[in-house]
Amino acid sequence: LIAGTAPGSLTGKRVVITAGPTREPIDPVRYISNHSSGKMGYALAAAARAAGAEVVLVSGPVSIAVPAGVEIRAVMTAEEMLEQADRAVDEGCDLFIATAAVADYRPDTCATDKIKKSNESMSLSLVRNPDTLATIAARDDAPFTVGFAAETRDIEHYALDKLTRKKLNMIVANDVSAPGLGFNSDNNSVIVFWPQGREAIGPGPKAVLAQRLIALIADQITEKAG
Ligand code: CTP
Ligand code: CA
Repeated sequence: LIAGTAPGSLTGKRVVITAGPTREPIDPVRYISNHSSGKMGYALAAAARAAGAEVVLVSGPVSIAVPAGVEIRAVMTAEEMLEQADRAVDEGCDLFIATAAVADYRPDTCATDKIKKSNESMSLSLVRNPDTLATIAARDDAPFTVGFAAETRDIEHYALDKLTRKKLNMIVANDVSAPGLGFNSDNNSVIVFWPQGREAIGPGPKAVLAQRLIALIADQITEKAG
């Protein structure tokens, strides 16, 4: 059994969480996206709220309900996600958690009309999207930042690389190649890394994991402040 979040451990804190996939338009009817369900981000929003925080959820398109008492800001593209997240942090933010599966690239242009098929092959020209998490972590007034790293191999290596490269306070790594866990599942198993430690959580339901994660984050915020 995993202990729940101490009620009130985030009282008075403002938390901004990104969640879900982004959609990058190709033409008026098509887009590039991924299989993110948004479940982990929404579970964290609910757990942070239960721990007493004021929570803003910046979310790409998902089909799950917004947790009670959580403010939602709906976005579509990676560029909109950065804009809305930055604005939410401007309004005041103690803790920023990025769970969104942001498309790393977008089509360089969105065709005005539906693209007609013609040749046997076609290619799309893609350009890099902005990194919301790295941008927030690089702010002079950066909140405590937590990133997620979905990996299929060398999990620890890539997670620690993201922790230092993006200058994060914490990274939550999960193995998305494990069957029945991660991306679209209700269950997850993660290893959390921060500069002075690590902790494995799960496997277990995302709601239970989210409570434990919020408790761990609240501990680290207190330790950093104290
Ligand atoms: N992230 C983000 N904006 C992006 C890309 C990623 O905010 N444009 C955030 C994710 O929400 C996650 C963390 O950065 O919290 C790591 O995302 P991931 O895709 O694992 O890392 P990348 O830096 O994009 O590296 P790669 O996909 O090459 O592994
Ligand atoms: Ca990526």
